[in-house]
Amino acid sequence: MHLTKEEERAYDGEFGWANQICMKILVRLGELFNATRLIRINSAHVSGVSYKTLGDAPLEFLETLANADVKVKAKATLNPQSIDKEYLCKRLPPDTCQKQRKIIEYFAKMGFNQSLTCTPYYLEKPTRTSHLAWSESSAVIYTNSVIGAWTNREGGPSALAAAIIGKTPNYGIHKTGNRQPKILVKVERRLQNEVEFGALGIFLGKILGDKIPIIQGLQNASEDNLKQLGAALASTGMVNMFYHKNIDIRASEIEKITVEAVDIKQTIENLNTTKTQKPDLVFIGCPHCSLNEIKQIAELIGNKKVKNGTELWVCTSRYTKEKAGKYVERIEQSGAHLITDTCAVVTWTDKLGIKTIMTNSAKTAHYAPPLNKAEIILTPLKNCLKTAFEG
Ligand code: F3S
Repeated sequence: MHLTKEEERAYDGEFGWANQICMKILVRLGELFNATRLIRINSAHVSGVSYKTLGDAPLEFLETLANADVKVKAKATLNPQSIDKEYLCKRLPPDTCQKQRKIIEYFAKMGFNQSLTCTPYYLEKPTRTSHLAWSESSAVIYTNSVIGAWTNREGGPSALAAAIIGKTPNYGIHKTGNRQPKILVKVERRLQNEVEFGALGIFLGKILGDKIPIIQGLQNASEDNLKQLGAALASTGMVNMFYHKNIDIRASEIEKITVEAVDIKQTIENLNTTKTQKPDLVFIGCPHCSLNEIKQIAELIGNKKVKNGTELWVCTSRYTKEKAGKYVERIEQSGAHLITDTCAVVTWTDKLGIKTIMTNSAKTAHYAPPLNKAEIILTPLKNCLKTAFEG
């Protein structure tokens, strides 16, 4: 890999231990993937922020890095943590919350924006074709496919290193040639709701490997539907982008597959792990809700009140919550919890006594059984809300 004089000096440790280790992470990564140089990034987004998923091992490293007085050289945001400020932090063990706060303190010391969301693109929409180093798979696939910015799916450490150095190796999806579709997917039936879009993602992720698809038949897809599709696709597969509009390619040159209605139906059935329709928790907001979704939820709630014995969480970013004003009020007046900074997957729902989660997110349905020891009811938003209000 070619390094500039300045980069070489960082690599040799002239700018301190922290810069050196970050530069070494990036160079090693670049060498692994045959990058030729480092390129400047517009932003970095770091996952692996939740103490639940991180554990104790990386705490010391983060502390040492933060105490080395190193600062980010690109705009840098953080994925959700394991607690919020007002609700869950009061229900979880104090020492656990204390450790989580420490993690955020270390990141803040390095100059990270405490965005604590998996939808950093609502905070600031990346410009088309700008280079990023993001490590939240749902955000990576959304920004590549819907927004048109360019980022590989980084690991937590490489996104952190990219934020500190302000650069990333020019490998993978940063190269035009690697953004070419390899397979044409024809969706036979018009998808009806966000759960079906998510199910399509789960289904395709398992069969595509890392082949970038052109998905035909999504004419009715809203950006929120595409967010569900991408989040699920990146959960079961290694794909970091998809095309959802026709692009100029000779269809005869690439592999083709068809997704039938029965594939979607079976995927949804498989994601549902229980027959009960009585959840302990109804969870909306994976990935974190957009302003449009918050508005839709508030309108569907109207003047209703959450039924006793059920919890309703609506998860979003601080930024979206701030923008949502009167909709937030309406949601909270219903007895629902509008939660920022975290979600039902990256917090300890099992420690809160939650055994069954109802959600409209296929990504949550995929992860909550192994990570939260929870049974899943996967059903569209309207049903989720109906259950929360009527039981
Ligand atoms: Fe975001 Fe949590 Fe889902 S981090 S993508 S809401 S699992």
